[in-house]
Amino acid sequence: MLKIEDLHMRFGGVVACNGFNAEIETGQIVGLIGPNGAGKTTIFNVITGVYKPTAGQILYSPAANEHHQLSGLGPDKIAKLGVCRTFQNIRLFGELSVLENVFIGNHLRVKSDVFSTVFRLPHYLVEEKRMYEKSLYLLEKIGLQDSRDEKASSLPYGMQRRLEIARALATDPKLLLLDEPAAGMNPQETMELIQFIREIKQEFDLTIFLIEHHMDVIMEISEKIYVLDHGLLIAEGDPSEIQQNERVVEAYLGVG
Ligand SMILES: Nc1ncnc2c1ncn2[C@@H]1O[C@H](COP(=O)(O)OP(=O)(O)O)[C@@H](O)[C@H]1O
Ligand SMILES: [Mg+2]
Repeated sequence: MLKIEDLHMRFGGVVACNGFNAEIETGQIVGLIGPNGAGKTTIFNVITGVYKPTAGQILYSPAANEHHQLSGLGPDKIAKLGVCRTFQNIRLFGELSVLENVFIGNHLRVKSDVFSTVFRLPHYLVEEKRMYEKSLYLLEKIGLQDSRDEKASSLPYGMQRRLEIARALATDPKLLLLDEPAAGMNPQETMELIQFIREIKQEFDLTIFLIEHHMDVIMEISEKIYVLDHGLLIAEGDPSEIQQNERVVEAYLGVG
């Protein structure tokens, strides 16, 4: 589904990504790990069009006969193609309600144009109703249907992170990028998150690319793991290969 070839990203003198290669098959959960500042978030930013890579290819194939070069496309275009992400730091609209936060995610997908939105033409209203129902469905999925009218900022931390994922799901992603979804969670919340990610993957037919600091999460959930250090790919493999890899242990796992 995603093939990244020789990706480079430079910010002035900082080389955040120095020749990254990766392949993600449809339906996989793939992990991306590495010490702070290794370039993980940068790779997500480049995939989602926040930055145009200095060099390299990002080939996205959501279907057998559909291929896109993402490098050079803008974030909106990439989201519409079905690549969506969450952020390392929670980016909810704290003052808006739980339901409104999910509803906003839908807007990317609205097919009606500005004209029909302004004049409230029937097909727009049909779409709006569909979006509303879908938002409610997603809230039910994440167990927040009873909190739909509360302010997003009033939710417990673990629930805010789930709400962010629900908002990403509202855009109908095929490839979902999660940037440290378990950050700041306690062990109980973390266990629930693993279960939750498995459930949504199944239900929404997702392929997932996941950055995570919690080694237990990554090892438990990933079929394949890429390890970055200082912008360089130092290892790739399944969880047991990664745990035994000497360079990884030195650069990363050994630290703790
Ligand atoms: N927009 C930017 N401008 C300048 N430097 C950046 C920018 N984004 C990331 N960096 C730098 O790139 C490196 C990798 O950062 P990042 O991708 O956030 O790492 P990670 O997510 O692995 O912790 C860091 O040195 C960071 O300071
Ligand atoms: Mg990061």
